[in-house]
Amino acid sequence: MAPQKIAAGNWKMNGDLAALTQLDALTADGCQVLICPPSVLIHAMVQKAEGSAILVGGQDCHDKTSGAHTGDISAEQMRDVGASHVILGHSERRADHGETDADVSAKAITAHQAGLVTVICIGETESQRDSGETLQVIATQLAGSVPDCATADNTVIAYEPVWAIGTGRTPTEDQIAEVHALLRDELGARFTDGANMSLLYGGSVKAANATQIFAIPHVDGALVGGASLKADDFAPIIAALTAA
Ligand code: PGA
Repeated sequence: MAPQKIAAGNWKMNGDLAALTQLDALTADGCQVLICPPSVLIHAMVQKAEGSAILVGGQDCHDKTSGAHTGDISAEQMRDVGASHVILGHSERRADHGETDADVSAKAITAHQAGLVTVICIGETESQRDSGETLQVIATQLAGSVPDCATADNTVIAYEPVWAIGTGRTPTEDQIAEVHALLRDELGARFTDGANMSLLYGGSVKAANATQIFAIPHVDGALVGGASLKADDFAPIIAALTAA
């Protein structure tokens, strides 16, 4: 079984009920299409996506199933309103909320127990890349953020260089290929079905570079921020993945 091709959109703290009409112009054909809106829009987006193949996910969840955690949301609650996936360990969560690899792993275990597929994000900062630490940083984040219960069915890995997110800058094809080969090797060594786990690239993916990025070995799709907000921008990325 080849890894599932996935075009995933991360709306971050953008969008409103009116923006759900963007889904009208999207089709999922030949690859999975996942959109992760802010949590307050998950339920409405699930209802909007009904009858289409578009999947809906969250952007983070707590590592506990319920309880006294004001402002937090559990994986079970996301599942209850129809989410199928949850992004975990995005660099903005790591930077804004101090999330560690261990936090991400704990959240992933709870999410898997709730029946969610986790999209676990890892990526180096610019200074780490400049000092030649990229592969070490990636291997450490991967080992610490992905729990032992991960399988190709419940886990997707997204490589997102922090310096490429929202900047319009992307790594070279060789740089992406090098990291994705490492991910494939490490996952294959640790998990029996590691060869089948989907590996997404994220960071300034747009229609103009999608075809090039999807041709890189072990790139099974993309996690897209800014270009997932408008169907006119996201649809060509989905089409490029379908054609890859
Ligand atoms: P970007 O964001 O596509 O806007 O660079 C990617 C992400 O943070 O997932």
